[in-house]
Amino acid sequence: MSKKIYKIAVLVDDATVPNEDGQFVGTPEKMTTEYCVVQAIRRLGYETGIVPVGDDIIAVANELRRQNPELIFNLTEEFAGDRRNDKNIAAMLELLAIPFTGTGSNGLMLCRDKMLCKYILAHHRIRVPKFAFFPPGRAVKAPKSIPFPLVVKPAFEDGSDGISNASVVNDIDSLRQRIEFVTGKWNQDAIAEEYIGGREFYVGILGNKKLTALPIRECVFNNKDTHSPCLATYRVKWNKEYREKWNINYGFAELDQKTTKNIEQVCKRAYSLLQLRDYGRIDLRLTEDGKIVIIEVNPNPDVAFGEDLSSSAERAGIGYDAFIEHIIHDAVGRYKI
Ligand SMILES: Nc1ncnc2c1ncn2[C@@H]1O[C@H](COP(=O)(O)OP(=O)(O)O)[C@@H](O)[C@H]1O
Ligand SMILES: [Mg+2]
Repeated sequence: MSKKIYKIAVLVDDATVPNEDGQFVGTPEKMTTEYCVVQAIRRLGYETGIVPVGDDIIAVANELRRQNPELIFNLTEEFAGDRRNDKNIAAMLELLAIPFTGTGSNGLMLCRDKMLCKYILAHHRIRVPKFAFFPPGRAVKAPKSIPFPLVVKPAFEDGSDGISNASVVNDIDSLRQRIEFVTGKWNQDAIAEEYIGGREFYVGILGNKKLTALPIRECVFNNKDTHSPCLATYRVKWNKEYREKWNINYGFAELDQKTTKNIEQVCKRAYSLLQLRDYGRIDLRLTEDGKIVIIEVNPNPDVAFGEDLSSSAERAGIGYDAFIEHIIHDAVGRYKI
């Protein structure tokens, strides 16, 4: 049984704090993740502080020392505009010996890199798309062992940044163009993956040693017309009108028991292998011939009210505040504080 804690600091990316409302006390126009979490933590009765992470890391460390929380709820996703630094924030908390929610620096490093996490999963015989990577400036040849169509993505991003319908390429010219776009605009390696057809699912997992898989969500692409999107692009993910236009819906998946069990098992293994902690979300596709292919493993996924993970928790009977409490409780349990 873990100790009862009283004081939590919510660590957030600087840009997410509204100028006029540094403590997230007002009524937000948009229910951002930060608002949802801060308000839930307050409703749960914890003393709550906010610590924005700006470019001055010494100031962040000093503020943490000043607030002296018993636990940090870590909502940061980047440092100095670079998502690859998410692991360094976790590493700083590890060195400061302050307990924090979610995945640690190792797991964040493994999952941020869309190539590295696939090597590890493939080594453990979990299916992932075949892939090739293209550093900026290198001449592009079509990968021999992966047939077109290919999906071209930035190797270290998230939230479908850099992913549009043009990410699916069918020939060498469009592959070159898209790689040039990704390496130029996003200033990083591009990864070109085998296109995986079929249904797309999102599986929320809670816990540490004992894992719970939550009800599975699905993104349904109803319009089978050739021009209709077939990826969860940036617009599909974030633009409701666009989804309506193309008849794309997020909802709960209808799957038979055996398939559900198989998917849950693969997702729990991926979660453990990539060292996720407390909560995570696995994105995958189920091909027409029944193969489960993992597209992405997300440590610290979005925990806003109404997002996939909290909706799945709600469906499992865990309301929003209880869901946030669950994460806090699991984190505290890991540290035995
Ligand atoms: N190899 C692939 N085959 C089919 N669809 C893909 C593939 N890679 C990505 N996608 C589509 O693009 C979406 C976003 O890709 P993902 O790698 O999860 O990027 P992000 O980290 O930005 O979420 C996926 O949810 C899926 O719809
Ligand atoms: Mg994804």
